[in-house]
Amino acid sequence: MRNALITGWGKCLPPTLLTNHDLESIVDTDDEWITTRTGIKERRISHVPLSDLAALAGKRALAAAGVEPEDVDLVMVATCTPDTLMPSAAGMVQNKLGATSAGAFDQNAACSGFLYSLISASGMVASGVIDTALVIGADVLTHLLDFSDRSTAVLFGDGAGAVVVQATDEDAGIIASRMGSDGSVAEILWAEGSGSATGYKEVERNHQLAAISMNGPEVFKRAVKAMGDASSAVIEEAGWSVDDIDLLVPHQANVRIIDATARRLKLDSSKVFVNIASYGNTSAATIPIALTEALENGRVQPGSKLVFAAFGAGLSWAAVALKFGSRVTPISEIDEELPPTDATVLDLLADNFAYFGGGPRG
Ligand code: COA
Repeated sequence: MRNALITGWGKCLPPTLLTNHDLESIVDTDDEWITTRTGIKERRISHVPLSDLAALAGKRALAAAGVEPEDVDLVMVATCTPDTLMPSAAGMVQNKLGATSAGAFDQNAACSGFLYSLISASGMVASGVIDTALVIGADVLTHLLDFSDRSTAVLFGDGAGAVVVQATDEDAGIIASRMGSDGSVAEILWAEGSGSATGYKEVERNHQLAAISMNGPEVFKRAVKAMGDASSAVIEEAGWSVDDIDLLVPHQANVRIIDATARRLKLDSSKVFVNIASYGNTSAATIPIALTEALENGRVQPGSKLVFAAFGAGLSWAAVALKFGSRVTPISEIDEELPPTDATVLDLLADNFAYFGGGPRG
């Protein structure tokens, strides 16, 4: 039977750190509050456009799969922070990779976007519409942060992760999936003014329009329920018990959300992958980055039973039960890195501060 298998994986994190201590000098917060309330210690700020992060993560995933760019049929980029709304980030990535035979499009389900894309691409591969897809989750949400708003400024970071999905005869791939959405509470997590509904005069009057605003406790509550329920549904549909699960790879938004989701599933914390301390919430990129690190650290074995779960703006959520394939090591690796930068993190954020009004406190 034809299945869709993850055959390559890669990540790209920009090098410049924004630590909790850096944030103490920008907004009224402290390392202890951020660490205990979120689990985050530091995050990255990108010095390059989103499409550069996405393209390098994609190149690494293609190398791991042993796939040449010209053999890719589709480049899908899950993002809500493309370089431009038109054309898509995926088109830019297709060009940067030299994926000359590929179609390309973006997909926006915010932080759930990677799972929506993985489900879509796997469906296309398994049904024979395409043979090989490059699925990238990438975001530079710090571009939309008002660093004078401590309720959002501490949570997000920039990054990209990617997987290659290919047709296979192996008995592996997605076994069950769920996607969900509740647009009736869209305003509890949104970047109002970032799209076409905003009047030109409003943008002139109020520079704060595009910043992310959020009702944190409400998002928290709904995230735990949505990720827990969607995960339970895919575990049941896969015919697994909780004991069968080798690893839960959840969206990394807040370690307390991850812990509460695992408790809801009655899953031991040793079976949960957590790397939020290093990167914060990289939105659509958290799961492919986490999966890549889980593979690098030997936490995914041939045939491992994995559960992915995510939630994000929309509100949107998704979960996937997936049996990993027989190969868990990359076929090859590339040396390429992002161009170096001498800029400090405050240099990189200077334009953001000038626009939104945040910045180092006097
Ligand atoms: N530093 C210090 N204090 C902060 C703070 C910060 N960065 N952010 C908020 N606070 C304060 C609040 O002002 C409040 O103070 P008050 O009691 O004097 O009013 C207090 O901490 C508690 O705030 P609350 O919002 O209830 O905290 P919380 O425990 O819910 O944690 C979040 C806040 C944002 C960390 C948490 O709600 C969360 O993670 N929500 C989900 C957000 C998310 O994942 N979004 C992305 C989805 S993809």
